[in-house]
Amino acid sequence: MPEIAAREHIRSLDAMVRHAMREAEVDHADIAGVGVTAGPGLVGALLAGVNWAKAYAFARGLPLLGVHHMEGHLFGTALDHEGAQPPFIGLLVSGGHTLLLEARAWGRYRLLGQTRDDAAGEAFDKVARRLGLPYPGGPEIQRAAERSATARGAAAGGADGAAGRFRLPRPMLSRRDLPGDPAYYDMSFSGLKTGVARIAEQLEEEGVLADAVDDLAADFQEAVVDVLAEKTRRAVEQTGCRRVVLGGGVARNSRLREGLAERLGSSGELYAPSPRLATDNAAMIAAAAHFRLARGERSPWSLNAEAALAFPGLA
Ligand code: KG4
Ligand code: ZN
Repeated sequence: MPEIAAREHIRSLDAMVRHAMREAEVDHADIAGVGVTAGPGLVGALLAGVNWAKAYAFARGLPLLGVHHMEGHLFGTALDHEGAQPPFIGLLVSGGHTLLLEARAWGRYRLLGQTRDDAAGEAFDKVARRLGLPYPGGPEIQRAAERSATARGAAAGGADGAAGRFRLPRPMLSRRDLPGDPAYYDMSFSGLKTGVARIAEQLEEEGVLADAVDDLAADFQEAVVDVLAEKTRRAVEQTGCRRVVLGGGVARNSRLREGLAERLGSSGELYAPSPRLATDNAAMIAAAAHFRLARGERSPWSLNAEAALAFPGLA
């Protein structure tokens, strides 16, 4: 409900900033600049933030820095790990975006691939809803998959991630894909979601869906992990970039972190964010803004919120 979200932002921002400053024991005079998410996202909520940031920065005579939400996720992981520095392969998986990129330096990126339809997190959320699990669906699917693994006698979330009971597609993953084809790195999760929905419908008709939810969730999760891990492995192989930086809310998924580490083996080093910095947060936006501030960048007072803001610094 975008309208309500925007109003809640306006209501909360002042108190939230005061609270954060008190907790960090900083005073207005300690602040060197104001970073704010300028997009992509729901434009009403973004506008509330951008206008608050503008007013504060203007009143205090401080530089204003608009930040791209997904670039922020890369900086979030770097806050957790000193080693998560370019050059690296970035895998960004959130509720709205799924991006695979090569970071040559901070602020200089090459987009390798992205989803052609649903984002990975969106697929988790939609599949969870179809299976009758609450929102947000990602953590619920993970828990269901862990129950399935326990029931199968495998270690929870262990290497044996799939229940193997349902044949689910691996969209855009074929051994015939060649480097240079857009399909080599691009992803698609909408067909997989529909595949799960079709199986769920059949199980429902047979009256056995409730008993199959955990296994179906496990097989769905494994299909997503398989696609993401393989696309990332390809990027490491093709670019010769060893470091892999994972970011975005779906990075909380422990099976994804495991599957990536397994697939990369000794050819890559995986940097995954802690749960608290994987989930949307303001620290990652501050870190991205700090990088741009240190380079002498400033956003103009005409900075606007953009629902579909382009990723910055793409070669
Ligand atoms: O980055 P984020 O916090 O917000 C956006 O920028 O979208 O990502 C939210 C997404 C949701 O789709 C949520 O279901 C997913 O991250 N998510 C997970 C897990 N925890 C959160 N997906 C899979 N497994 C999880 N454990
Ligand atoms: Zn996010």
